[in-house]
Amino acid sequence: MPPAPSGVALDIACVKAYLGANRLGATLHYFQEIGSTNTHARELAERGADEGEIVIAETQTHGRGRLGRRWESPPFTNLYLSLILRPTLPPRHAPQITLAAAVALVETVGSFLSGPPAIKWPNDILFDGKKLAGILTEAACDAGRVEYVVLGIGLNINYRIAAMPAELRQRATSIVDLAGTNVSRESVLVRLIQDMDRCYGELEESGFEALRPRWEAHFALRGQRVQVELGGQTVVGRALGIDREGALIVEDDQGQRRSIVAGDVIPLET
Ligand code: BTN
Repeated sequence: MPPAPSGVALDIACVKAYLGANRLGATLHYFQEIGSTNTHARELAERGADEGEIVIAETQTHGRGRLGRRWESPPFTNLYLSLILRPTLPPRHAPQITLAAAVALVETVGSFLSGPPAIKWPNDILFDGKKLAGILTEAACDAGRVEYVVLGIGLNINYRIAAMPAELRQRATSIVDLAGTNVSRESVLVRLIQDMDRCYGELEESGFEALRPRWEAHFALRGQRVQVELGGQTVVGRALGIDREGALIVEDDQGQRRSIVAGDVIPLET
């Protein structure tokens, strides 16, 4: 698919035609503008939407990142989408969906770039240390089972660094800036949904162990000193990898191995 000039809406009919009989993406809810695709997907999930329904918007007025941060969402430039999932996984394994999405994202994005992107546990996709994409996973659990998961993905595609607000320019990047040319957002979207469909299927059928080698192969922080914020507690140490369940393993400065299920990881210089 040739890249559309910037400012042009996604060709959703074309995306649907390429997706065919995918489990994910059988229903696409497309908006020119929305508050947040995650918020809308949660509302749809609460009203009984099926697994695989996807909310896509050209721009978000209240795009949300992790930890209450804002997600910059300029129109007709990037991808902002939220997938509704109804996994059969136990609730304690729900965070593995973020890890599966990270594998799908590096595989998708890697196919448009000359080198491999990296994963910063648990949800950032980086290239040369700069953020290309983020994942916001929100789950609703009831009586020991996962009712639904909304998997939100924001991916910078034709968003030139020069057009980013000053505070993003040092730490964000985009496919166009890395590849040197505009990319068809439809091609990226189709590939991403297909890769997500495959990785989610592997997770459901074989567990995270099936995806772990590919996740580890893209792990950005291996051996690096990191600081992990655990809601009131700070752990400083060396990131070793992830365990069978997807928890981050950090050897702290006291030589103790810590298994971190949720937290914000900051790479340290030394
Ligand atoms: C992060 O890195 O902090 C996560 C960013 C997630 C952004 C996406 S854009 C589509 C979806 N809708 C939202 O409001 N957020 C996610």
